[in-house]
Amino acid sequence: MINLKNKIIVIIGGSGLLGGEFLYSAIESGAKVINLDLETQNKNDKKIHSISDNYFEIYCDITNEKNIIKVANLIKEKFLYIDGLVNFASINPQPDQISNTQLENMSIGQWIVDLNVGLTGAFLVLKYIGKIISENKNGGSIVLISSDLGIIAPDQRLYETNTPDTKDGKKPISYSAVKFGVIGLSKYIATYWAEKNVRSNVICPGGVFNGQNIEFTKKIEARIPLGRMARKDEFNSALIWLLSDSSSYVNGAVIPIDGGRTAW
Ligand SMILES: NC(=O)c1ccc[n+]([C@@H]2O[C@H](COP(=O)([O-])OP(=O)(O)OC[C@H]3O[C@@H](n4cnc5c(N)ncnc54)[C@H](O)[C@@H]3O)[C@@H](O)[C@H]2O)c1
Repeated sequence: MINLKNKIIVIIGGSGLLGGEFLYSAIESGAKVINLDLETQNKNDKKIHSISDNYFEIYCDITNEKNIIKVANLIKEKFLYIDGLVNFASINPQPDQISNTQLENMSIGQWIVDLNVGLTGAFLVLKYIGKIISENKNGGSIVLISSDLGIIAPDQRLYETNTPDTKDGKKPISYSAVKFGVIGLSKYIATYWAEKNVRSNVICPGGVFNGQNIEFTKKIEARIPLGRMARKDEFNSALIWLLSDSSSYVNGAVIPIDGGRTAW
């Protein structure tokens, strides 16, 4: 049976679209879950809040080293060890919010913000939360979230004709840098803590349907062999498997879950 019974799992970005969906699935599968996010019920007090017996939240900005050190110490004090982590946090620009992200116009400020959350944040998560897993005598499992756009380039024609405002919108270059970079981080960790039986893997989700306009949806569906976008719950079982002992020999893998989008 694939389950997370008796496992303590940290989810970063568990208040977002995919993290929020996964969080309940992990709890149902038997895990004790600690959600680190900017969006928590008790923002900014930096304490662990027990929402239920199996669900805890802590405000955490993963780009702030002092903040994450404090949070890592709180987790160690309360839970003593961690078995796994999934990092969902990243800036995920949507087609209707992406004017001014053409390469020629994109500000260095936006580039820095995107890399700060997606790569520097992931680095700090590995440095402090990953370290707690590396100290677990049973080892553990780390999963980073990339994207189909961590495997292929964005097809910018998808974003061309949404609304007059975003006519020239592009998926920003920073998204490719982050999503390809996350794969590098995960492969690094797959060898770095291998002796401690810490496994590290990446999933690459395809685009999730979340009310995008029909024009965009039709265009992207035509590029997906299964002919549809993902549902937000279609990554949960892979994540549970990767965090569970059932995937004990899976390490350094990059797993597309994209309806076949990156297959052609
Ligand atoms: N939604 C999709 O279609 C899709 C497709 C492919 C890949 N992905 C990837 O999946 C992951 C989750 O996507 P999503 O759609 O759920 O995104 P989302 O924006 O809904 O969720 C991201 C979460 O991260 C949190 N976060 C952001 N910055 C943070 C910080 N500095 N510290 C702590 N938490 C922070 C946000 O508060 C939010 O709860 C992302 O890495 C995204 O790139 C998403």
